[in-house]
Amino acid sequence: MKRIGVFTSGGDAPGMNACIRAVVRAAVYKGIEVYGIRRGYNGMIRGEIFKMESSSVSNIVQRGGTILKSARSKEFMTREGRQKAFEQLQNFGIEGLVAIGGNGSFTGAKLFFDEFGIPTVGAPGTIDNDLFGTDYTIGYDTAVNTALDAIDKIRDTADSHERVFFVEVMGRDSGYIAIPCAIGGGAEIVMIPETETTIPSIIEALRTGWNRSKTSSIVIIAEGEVEGGAMKVAAKVQEALPDMDARVTIIGHVQRGGAPTAFDRLLASRLGIACVEGLLDGHKSVMAGLINSKLVYTPFEETFTKRKLINPNFTKMVEVLSV
Ligand code: F6P
Repeated sequence: MKRIGVFTSGGDAPGMNACIRAVVRAAVYKGIEVYGIRRGYNGMIRGEIFKMESSSVSNIVQRGGTILKSARSKEFMTREGRQKAFEQLQNFGIEGLVAIGGNGSFTGAKLFFDEFGIPTVGAPGTIDNDLFGTDYTIGYDTAVNTALDAIDKIRDTADSHERVFFVEVMGRDSGYIAIPCAIGGGAEIVMIPETETTIPSIIEALRTGWNRSKTSSIVIIAEGEVEGGAMKVAAKVQEALPDMDARVTIIGHVQRGGAPTAFDRLLASRLGIACVEGLLDGHKSVMAGLINSKLVYTPFEETFTKRKLINPNFTKMVEVLSV
């Protein structure tokens, strides 16, 4: 393999730049050419492809976002879109791809390989940490720390005003961001899609807290837990507890930005190199990940069809620690 392409796709995640840097530098180190593809699959379809050198990735290891831009491409989900993308890659002589993204990106990568046979190795880049085949995804650690920082601040004002805050964090269909936010942020209750937490149980927990003379509480809600999210949960609890002074905070896209933590920079660098090495070793349709600190290549299909389980003890921990 003499020429590869690299792109970022789906929701951006802190550490994507560190990963791009690692891919480019590893390729240069191995003596192969590397082309950047802008705007994910959309840019691939339109031929937004340019040669990258070692200097193209100077001074980006510490930056959030992605210098290659990102997109969720509807066109790539069509056969015609993928055909156009294939033709563009052929025009540029690109023989292998590194895809940095999450489950949507890898669904596309699998389809693309099956149809057109361009070897692709993925690096897990998503704050959601919801990909099977890696203990951690790039951006997750930073997003959790960003959310925790916000929760610490919310706790200050919750305490001053003796309020209950319902705080919604991201994570799509998973509770991976919510759990460490709840444990590390000292929340009284956590709601995640993986386990059932009923409204009556929240009401009960809050009442119990007040009876123990707690004057403020934090409830963390994973965005995928209930339709309507934290607003809906707060409204239902308020109905049953009219004296409760409640507020809702949706932390939102703040969680996607900012400088990556040391953990994410290291993970991104390690997996970026592993993607290039994986392509050179003949891997074709896999994601590079770390399981128990060991490098593992997992078929794309498994990364988004198999569910990575959350340790059920974590929700119990929140209950124990809020006593
Ligand atoms: O997948 C990352 C993520 O931030 C999810 O946690 C969230 O549900 C989604 O992306 C938001 O997507 P968008 O930025 O397109 O609104």
